[in-house]
Amino acid sequence: MTALTLALSKGRILEDSSALLAAVGIAPVGDASRLLRLPTEDPDVELLVIRPTDVPTYVEYGAADLGIVGKDILLEHGGEALYEPLDMGIARCRLALATRRDSPLLRGLDAAGSRRLRVATKYPEMAKRHFSARGQQVEIIKLYGSMELAPLVGLADLIVDLVATGNTLRANGLVEIETIVESSARLVVNKAAMKMKHAAISALLERFTRAIADA
Ligand code: PRP
Repeated sequence: MTALTLALSKGRILEDSSALLAAVGIAPVGDASRLLRLPTEDPDVELLVIRPTDVPTYVEYGAADLGIVGKDILLEHGGEALYEPLDMGIARCRLALATRRDSPLLRGLDAAGSRRLRVATKYPEMAKRHFSARGQQVEIIKLYGSMELAPLVGLADLIVDLVATGNTLRANGLVEIETIVESSARLVVNKAAMKMKHAAISALLERFTRAIADA
């Protein structure tokens, strides 16, 4: 059999995909919360457990044949170099625009007048696209985490961040203004591997398709 390497996003996707990986027959063997590279129940499939933002890069360069990564990350990265054959239906969330619950911007972004709004986000490309599509000039402030803090301490007027249950926004006195895009975990495949390892990848995709349908 052809050996396959699957890059898995650590964090929420790793947690949410464990039942699916078991149903597909590729549950990790070993401690996936510590090991970066580990075998699975299937001797022909190994897992890499890496930061979500690195998954498209590993798959694009062929260091992994396949990957499981959020649509949010693919949109931010620009996922054109990858095949995206399956929506796994897990780790559902949305990329949303939010502000303080006492913000005048809740009446409309025009409330800022001619002042250029500051938007804090881990998704600068998505934020830029969103505001340029509506013809609004904003200043994007790139952050690496805890975006919810930025409007509370005057670093930004708005944030663009992932929302799942909405609990984090609520706990920090923020409210959602609008959804920018819906996201869920996607299975992605390296384009060259899809040709060179076609039989093995097709068989694995079929196992995933069946497991997702049964989930
Ligand atoms: C995401 C996001 C929010 C939170 C939203 O962070 O940045 O902070 O989840 O989830 P909720 O709507 O269910 O409260 P995550 O936990 O993925 O970690 P991160 O801060 O490293 O992105």
